[in-house]
Amino acid sequence: MKVVSSIAGRRTLFDRLLDPSVTTEEMDPRSVEGSLLEPEEQAIAEAVDRRIDQFTAGRVCARQALARLGVDAGIPVLQGEDRAPIWPDGFVGSITHTDSWCAAAVARASEVRAIGIDLEPSTPLKESVLNRICTPAERQWLAEVSDPGLMGKVVFSAKEAVYKCQYPLTHEFLGFHAVALDLEDGFFRAVFQQDAGELRRGDSISGRYLIEEGIVATACALGAR
Ligand SMILES: CC(C)(COP(=O)(O)OP(=O)(O)OC[C@H]1O[C@@H](n2cnc3c(N)ncnc32)[C@H](O)[C@@H]1OP(=O)(O)O)[C@@H](O)C(=O)NCCC(=O)NCCS
Repeated sequence: MKVVSSIAGRRTLFDRLLDPSVTTEEMDPRSVEGSLLEPEEQAIAEAVDRRIDQFTAGRVCARQALARLGVDAGIPVLQGEDRAPIWPDGFVGSITHTDSWCAAAVARASEVRAIGIDLEPSTPLKESVLNRICTPAERQWLAEVSDPGLMGKVVFSAKEAVYKCQYPLTHEFLGFHAVALDLEDGFFRAVFQQDAGELRRGDSISGRYLIEEGIVATACALGAR
């Protein structure tokens, strides 16, 4: 039987994947208790309902998590032209959503340099996508595991989490072959195959993953220097 961690009966995934220096909030985007602040609403005004629901859940999670760190809940979390969230001064964070679950993870910049989190449905990654996002070494590893489609989805998700983690430091778009992943028993390590801003080829970002209740969740964070 799968064990589901929860606080007051609520499912929580990311508090198990990240250090206690990171504060997380999670919710179902279809039943959000909370709403957008006006400047956030303006940022998403043109979007379709499904996107508005997910954006709302992400912002509500983000502001609730920030509030637990003492940030005024009336401060909006806007987005830049690059679509990355703009965190209040002194804070870092990351947001992710699927149709059925959404999460935000935040921390004080004095303790954590950057965070990346990602959620994906735990459906197998299509063969065509797998070939596009995996390096030859990752494809070879996947060929030897018992569920290559699902583990391919974990590789995909981990790379998206790493992308979100590195972006605030480098401001660079990175393709899926920019990092090479090793995965084992709920842990992953992404080794940079190229220089990206302050990150150099050979540098790595480590994180954790879990697969539970139809969802793949991946998370990584870089501690403050
Ligand atoms: C940006 C990206 C990672 C988002 O991932 P996704 O699985 O499509 O969607 P998620 O719901 O998990 O995440 C979306 C959230 O990511 C955040 N985000 C978007 N762009 C971002 C960026 N450049 N940096 C950090 N976070 C970003 C936003 O908070 C967004 O939610 P919001 O628009 O409601 O605020 C993805 O669309 C992308 O562009 N990937 C290509 C690059 C990549 O992954 N390379 C891997 C090698 S390192």
